[in-house]
Amino acid sequence: MESSLAVMSHDTQILKVQVDNLGQIKYTSDRKTFNEEWQIDWNIDTIDYKNLSQAAYELKTSDVPVAFPTETVYGLGADATRSSAVRGIFEAKQRPSDNPLIVHFASLLQLRNFLKSNGGGLIPSIYESLIKKFWPGPLTIILPNPENSGLAPEVTAGLNTFGARIPQDVLALCLIKLAGVPLAAPSANSSTKPSPTNAEHVLEDLKSRITTILDGGPCSVGVESTVVNGLANPPSILRPGGVSLQQLRECPGWENVTTGYKDVPDSSQKPMAPGMKYRHYSPRAPVILYETGSKTPPPMDFLGKLAFSTSEPRKIGLIRTQSWPSLDGYGFPFLETPRNAPSALTHEKDFDQNIRNSKSNGEIKETTRQPNSDHQSEAFGSFNIRYFEICETQQSPLLVWEVKLGPEAKMIAQGLFSSLRQLDKYDVDYIIVEGIDANESGLADAIMNRLRKASHRRIFRHD
Ligand code: TXA
Ligand code: MG
Repeated sequence: MESSLAVMSHDTQILKVQVDNLGQIKYTSDRKTFNEEWQIDWNIDTIDYKNLSQAAYELKTSDVPVAFPTETVYGLGADATRSSAVRGIFEAKQRPSDNPLIVHFASLLQLRNFLKSNGGGLIPSIYESLIKKFWPGPLTIILPNPENSGLAPEVTAGLNTFGARIPQDVLALCLIKLAGVPLAAPSANSSTKPSPTNAEHVLEDLKSRITTILDGGPCSVGVESTVVNGLANPPSILRPGGVSLQQLRECPGWENVTTGYKDVPDSSQKPMAPGMKYRHYSPRAPVILYETGSKTPPPMDFLGKLAFSTSEPRKIGLIRTQSWPSLDGYGFPFLETPRNAPSALTHEKDFDQNIRNSKSNGEIKETTRQPNSDHQSEAFGSFNIRYFEICETQQSPLLVWEVKLGPEAKMIAQGLFSSLRQLDKYDVDYIIVEGIDANESGLADAIMNRLRKASHRRIFRHD
């Protein structure tokens, strides 16, 4: 069910915030964590504080949500206690309103007080070990929603539970602190698109739908939080994310945690986490995912066929992760040593010109560029893109944009959504992705979950 409210047009601004300039943080426990409670002496004269205050003011007073960074993905936040503000999220995202939202808190004290003042009880003890280990961080826990809940009913989509998370990103924590209210926040993409991992991604999707995007740079994790339900026995994972199954199993009470989600829909079953039934994380171009396995062929056949055919498609995005070699190692008979060609991927006209100027038979061209060129080397989620042009006599060339993510799962996660978005910008007809072993450990489950949901077709070793 889509929101039927008319969408207003807004001027959208990106406000940069450097967290180091916000003020001096004072922890109330010796462990120097944000978990229990913390204070900050604001540097009120800085532009960073002014930008943060502007966002906090909007969260308190307006019904237009504010986008802000977390360590997982950018969130689209609203005061979780005000219905009109929460409805603004669904409106901006064009998200079906039967999909519940995660509520973000700045500290455990804020969460405890919130539960207490709304007639709720204590946080169930099963969560103690997880909270100690993973908060603040990429973990969302499902809690009972008290009867006289202070939460707007739109947050929970009518469920008697809600998802709570204390994020690790200091900018996010400071924003919640300054707004003084828990923030309901889904990922700040328009519904079905890959989640945003930098401020520009948010702008691409939500320009003129929201007023303010806080820019704290690229996200360090790159995939969403793990959602766990400890209210059932045995406890289960409702969505894989930044905290892995293996990490959860090391915690007392969570040794037998089960996976209560499916990467691909099973039409005969009712979804356990409400968001599971929707198309998700999808770029415009159809994604073809190669599942792992020793005999899995690299997409050489696929590309080979395309290169020698005259039919569409002629533009391909290729995402390499752990073992596929670069195109120049595939041994197409007509390849010559790749040459460096200037990249003009952000200047479409020059780019087309390059292609025209350089076309010749039996030739492959390559160009390399780093996206996010503002932050280059140490930026999370930056990856290498090479451009190949495979020409065969009398045929239009096959154009291939080759992205290298990884090989470590951490880097793959950081660049995953961003690379899908980037390939869409090159207007490719298909995106071919090298999957990784989901049982490996760490972030692999979350990565494969997102890729399977995004994919149009999956190829197995026996195909
Ligand atoms: O990393 C994240 O979790 C990001 C950042 C912004 O914090 N947020 C995020 O929110 O991914 P969203 O709304 O895109 O995903 C919320 C997930 C959905 O899968 C939803 O079904 C599940 O959490 N969820 C929320 N409340 C729930 C509940 N009461 N019971 C079961 N699942 C719930
Ligand atoms: Mg989302």
